[in-house]
Amino acid sequence: MRAVDIIEKKRDGKILSDEEIKFLLKNYLKGSIPDYQISAFLMAVYFKGMSDEELKSFTTEMINSGDIIDFKGTHKFLVDKHSTGGVGDKTTIALAPVLGALGMGTAKLSGKGLGHTGGTIDKFESIKGFKFSETREELIKLVNETGIGIMGYSDKIVPMDKKLYSLRDVTGTVSSIPLIASSIMSKKLAVHADAIILDVKVGSGAFMKTFEEAKKLAETMYKLGKLFHRNIVCMLSNMDEPLGYAVGNSLEVIEAIETLKGRGPKKFQDLIVKLSAQALKMKGDVKTLEEGIIIVEEVISSGRALTNLKKFIQASGGNPEICEDYSLLEVAKEVTPYLATEDGYISHIAADEIGRAAMMLGAGRATKDDIIDHSVGLVMKAKIGSYVKKGDTVLNFYHKGNLTENIVEVVKSALKYSKEKVQEKEIILEIIGG
Ligand code: URA
Repeated sequence: MRAVDIIEKKRDGKILSDEEIKFLLKNYLKGSIPDYQISAFLMAVYFKGMSDEELKSFTTEMINSGDIIDFKGTHKFLVDKHSTGGVGDKTTIALAPVLGALGMGTAKLSGKGLGHTGGTIDKFESIKGFKFSETREELIKLVNETGIGIMGYSDKIVPMDKKLYSLRDVTGTVSSIPLIASSIMSKKLAVHADAIILDVKVGSGAFMKTFEEAKKLAETMYKLGKLFHRNIVCMLSNMDEPLGYAVGNSLEVIEAIETLKGRGPKKFQDLIVKLSAQALKMKGDVKTLEEGIIIVEEVISSGRALTNLKKFIQASGGNPEICEDYSLLEVAKEVTPYLATEDGYISHIAADEIGRAAMMLGAGRATKDDIIDHSVGLVMKAKIGSYVKKGDTVLNFYHKGNLTENIVEVVKSALKYSKEKVQEKEIILEIIGG
């Protein structure tokens, strides 16, 4: 078998066999097929796509390139909720304690983030003393006690993805639906969870900017999940504005805690409740989402979900008192409002630009070696559909004296106003397989 023949076959739109895909990826991982041939192959996939069978073979090889994680020793129904990422996405911090209080477990690998703010790991690390489980035994113990099982990504899981993604990044092939789907799903399928819930974000702050693109990706990932016989649901959710109000690590932790107290932003609360209700449905505890919603609302209003978060923080070395006294979290002292420049309804918020402003304040990493400042960020005071008068506060910057003209300009250019009333979008746009 020769790599060039396989590349030509794909280029000409023919279907590759399992053996051909295996040959290409195995030898690439070993170093016996060079980057330039795999680059050409990725470009051929970009233009010709992949059949279901090819996608399954490709994803199988990705999964088999590394370790498989199981949570043997836990006796819970394990849920892996994954979001494709967006601005102000603090979902896991609120969702995992709710699932735990419902008797389920989170089985999740989380990364340190690149971009506007940190990832889930960085967000939890804004709690002084907090440390994630480093051993499997610690993790299993925590899952059994609290239902919250989150650990850092290891390079040993799907190492092929890292290698391929670096190449895609410099060859214009990141935005191929089968390549994105296999990249995300291989990492999900390498972890043994009982249910996979994918939250595919759509909009200006998301990887997928349009509903059509996001739906195509969600359908492909759903199909892959089914091809691997997994219990999977994909939700499409709106990311045309930051999720909730807070963007920044400590600020987002506070907002997630407020949500567990029933005082969170309405749409974020709605997302948490529906994701949790969906998990109950996948477990088979309820028949409809509506039944699940009633149970989830009770678990939040009774304070059980918050108590569970406190237990998790304590067991992870943090002070659970932060849930009652936010001054125990590091939040930047300098607060500067950004004021509306005209009267009108907020009609557009370029969420990615709002995220960029938070990153420029120090909340996120531009490169993987940057150090995050957990205390900085911003909190929106107006969202799409809000009516503001010129001079009203649209958001507050939390900073350390480093708020530059540049950052203010980024926010200014992110906002549009309209004289006409603006319709708000629902947070959940569609559910596939629910
Ligand atoms: N996220 C991933 O993990 N992989 C992609 O290809 C795109 C987004």
